Amino acid sequence: MAKRRRIYEGRAKDIYEGPEPGTLVQHFKDDASAFNNTKRGTITGKGVINNRISEFLMSRLQEIGVPNHFIRRLNMREQLVREVEIIPIGVVIRNVVAGSMAKRLGIKEGTQLPRSIAEYYWKNQELGNPLVSEEHITAFGWAMPQDIDDMLSLSLRINDFLTGLFLGVGMRLIDFKLEFGRYYDENGDMRVILADEISPDNCRLWDSTTSEKLDMDRFREDLGEAAEAYQEVARRLGVLPDGGELNGPRMVQ
Ligand code: TMP
Repeated sequence: MAKRRRIYEGRAKDIYEGPEPGTLVQHFKDDASAFNNTKRGTITGKGVINNRISEFLMSRLQEIGVPNHFIRRLNMREQLVREVEIIPIGVVIRNVVAGSMAKRLGIKEGTQLPRSIAEYYWKNQELGNPLVSEEHITAFGWAMPQDIDDMLSLSLRINDFLTGLFLGVGMRLIDFKLEFGRYYDENGDMRVILADEISPDNCRLWDSTTSEKLDMDRFREDLGEAAEAYQEVARRLGVLPDGGELNGPRMVQ
């Protein structure tokens, strides 16, 4: 088989040229990083699990009409996606205070927010992905006002859907980060669609009964049993790869 061309090498994912024009292959790795790459490690099996979890969540989102780049899973660690022009803004939606918001504003982690809050981060690793406002985004031309409207309305819709989905299997969606891209269809019309991945790498998920952390914070905060936490999320969603069968989410009371 001809060697594929690698387009991007990240800590958690590599991106390769896809088999057809306009497609890419996302390869999920076990490598983990935190605090702008200053902390590094691996979570065994994370790539395989995130490939499955992201496949599951992107597919469910497509079913409710949230456009995204996912086409199909190719193998244990890879999925075929549509090529998009990535908008250099990470959109974080927060339902409960945690992470950098707790630190920046001095508010206790776990405080329920009166409403979901959206934040924008400029994707610039050298500067540590700084928090920016809508005005920064439009003034510096990172996205147009219409792109921001599209990203925000899709993010809030995704938040409502995922909050319910995770709650149904015993987890609270505390916050998450999304990335979007511009996709040009066959008529040349542009649409903003969801890209990247949705997994415990970029979501905070707490057990709804015990508040146990079931996400990347287990690695960031040295809580141990990170691999087990990722497996638990996959198991609750019914997408554990080794079980063979994909049963879908098992509701909890
Ligand atoms: P934060 O509280 O550290 O700002 O993170 C908010 C959310 O964004 C959290 O669910 C983790 C996610 N996130 C990423 O996916 N990548 C990152 O580089 C960072 C800093 C956060």
